[in-house]
Amino acid sequence: MKLGKKWLGAFTLTVGLGILLAGCGSAGSGQSAPAGGTDTAASNQASTATTATTAAADKVYQVGTDAAYPPFEKMEGDKLTGFDMDVIQAVADAAGIKVELKHTGWDPLFNGIDTGTVDIGISAITITDERKQKYDFSEPYFEATQLIMVPEDSTVQKLADLQGKRIGVQSATTGEQVVKKAFGDTYDGLKGYDDTPSAVDELFNGRVDAVVADNAVLQDYVKKLTDKKFKLIKDDSFETENYGIMVKKGNAELLGKINEGLNKIKENGKLQEIHKQYFGE
Ligand code: ARG
Repeated sequence: MKLGKKWLGAFTLTVGLGILLAGCGSAGSGQSAPAGGTDTAASNQASTATTATTAAADKVYQVGTDAAYPPFEKMEGDKLTGFDMDVIQAVADAAGIKVELKHTGWDPLFNGIDTGTVDIGISAITITDERKQKYDFSEPYFEATQLIMVPEDSTVQKLADLQGKRIGVQSATTGEQVVKKAFGDTYDGLKGYDDTPSAVDELFNGRVDAVVADNAVLQDYVKKLTDKKFKLIKDDSFETENYGIMVKKGNAELLGKINEGLNKIKENGKLQEIHKQYFGE
């Protein structure tokens, strides 16, 4: 079903571009379509204008995510769903590009961008100065902050109260960063996990005393809890973070398309609509 929709999208795009190109002569020559070479026999039968755009429209950008981070990304059967997945699909539709979503995991997502197996990263990724050295980011699309999750009867009221306690985080996230900043890079109680559910499980099992992670994700956990009781605490030192869509550094062409699509869905209300669907007002 999903494939069918994608193909329909590709068809519409091709026809749309074809009409556009027919209307404005060689205006499309700046497109990234390779001159000849990769065209299939089928597309050779099409008109010149359509053939030129088919290669560009056929490019399917690989989107990587760590799909263990509801409500932003999760696996539902073999399907990737969540706020980010809806956002990137809407961005792609608005920008006229095709995307394929895949669950890579967190660290492999960054590696994938490095090696080129992943073109686009969307995974509730906070735009940080450190990451900006190595990657390029779109305009922000979501605002977040860190929160601390502890058992409901815990006396912890702020980050400093966790001194000496075991704190679970997802490794290489901003949650880990705030803990390192507060207690030192080599803090003994810092427990890093490959994904956030593992850290939260350890809290539920009592093997860590707290988890530090993004607000919307921890709020989602607390909301879904039935038997156990946990609470969330915001420390005054926690700053506002902005999520961005990530590409390889210097990939200005792709980033331009992403920002174009993102701006469109900000302006036409689509982003707000998706936001409302997942987070209410
Ligand atoms: N926003 C945090 C960061 O960028 C955590 C993101 C984790 N995302 C995920 N899908 N596991 O470091």
